[in-house]
Amino acid sequence: MKLLWAVSALLLSCWRTNASTAPNIITEPAEVRNQTSVELSCNLTDHSLPIKGSHWTHNGKIIEESKTTEDKSFTSLRLEKITYHSSGQYECVFHTDPEVKKTIEVKTVPHVSASKHSEHGNENDKGVMTCVSHGYPLPTDWVWFKEEDGNRKAIINGTGDRYEIKSTPNKTTLTINELSIDNDIGDYICSGTSELGTSVDKIYLRVRSRLAALWPFLGIVAEVIILVTIIFIYEKRRKPDEVNDDDDSGSAPLKSNSNANHKDKNVRQRNSN
Ligand SMILES: *[C@@H]1O[C@H](CO)[C@@H](O)[C@H](O)[C@H]1NC(C)=O
Ligand SMILES: *[C@@H]1O[C@H](CO)[C@@H](O)[C@H](O)[C@H]1NC(C)=O
Ligand SMILES: *[C@@H]1O[C@H](CO)[C@@H](O)[C@H](O)[C@H]1NC(C)=O
Repeated sequence: MKLLWAVSALLLSCWRTNASTAPNIITEPAEVRNQTSVELSCNLTDHSLPIKGSHWTHNGKIIEESKTTEDKSFTSLRLEKITYHSSGQYECVFHTDPEVKKTIEVKTVPHVSASKHSEHGNENDKGVMTCVSHGYPLPTDWVWFKEEDGNRKAIINGTGDRYEIKSTPNKTTLTINELSIDNDIGDYICSGTSELGTSVDKIYLRVRSRLAALWPFLGIVAEVIILVTIIFIYEKRRKPDEVNDDDDSGSAPLKSNSNANHKDKNVRQRNSN
């Protein structure tokens, strides 16, 4: 019995000393939600470690202006005009051995934007529309809508084997198979929702007829036909001239022969002189 008391007393004292030296950081506020400005602060308590300074990080990147070498157990960081750019995980880091740090999450409504605000596809082909999201936290839910007469009609994944939606927290893609000119032209809305709220963006989808897709090709074919015709007609009209040319060229060797003969004569004449 005495031994048991002794052991438990020892364990208790161990735990006590541990607790009294275990550093603790009190963050204020614990979390930031949809605020436009805030002062983040960390108060290092219950520590017996020498402090050689501190700094803050944003999503793992050191904020250079926040670096200090002061022996202070309190540090703060002011954030103004908070947008999705400045949302994320902020961490205060005390330069002790070992380092002590704590995270404060700054959350905003996600920012959602279409990769392209205007997309086009060919009739019977695929139409693909993409939206991306930035900020912290990213959307947990994505929904696509089609605007019809000012109303939003939700698009259900897999409907009629035509609609396919693929989503990750930072990206969503809507694919429409077998595009139809009658049904698919119009405005599409991607909507991303996180615990903080919802953001949307809009894409206009155009559908070109198959024939329209063929126009550039038909244009080239027409160009080639016209060119060939012109060359053909030109050749036809040149034909009589060419016959004359042939006569000329046929007589040319004769001329040169006669020239050669003249030369021969001259040479002979010179020789005879
Ligand atoms: C830090 O926390 C300690 C203990 O809770 C408290 O006494 C002290 O006033 C705090 N310092 C600041 C700057 O808030
Ligand atoms: C939609 O359906 C496809 C195929 O069944 C599946 O791969 C995809 O994950 C689904 N998308 C969503 C957002 O549920
Ligand atoms: C999307 O998120 C994944 C993992 O969450 C990340 O690896 C990727 O870089 C992100 N993409 C963009 C475009 O932010």
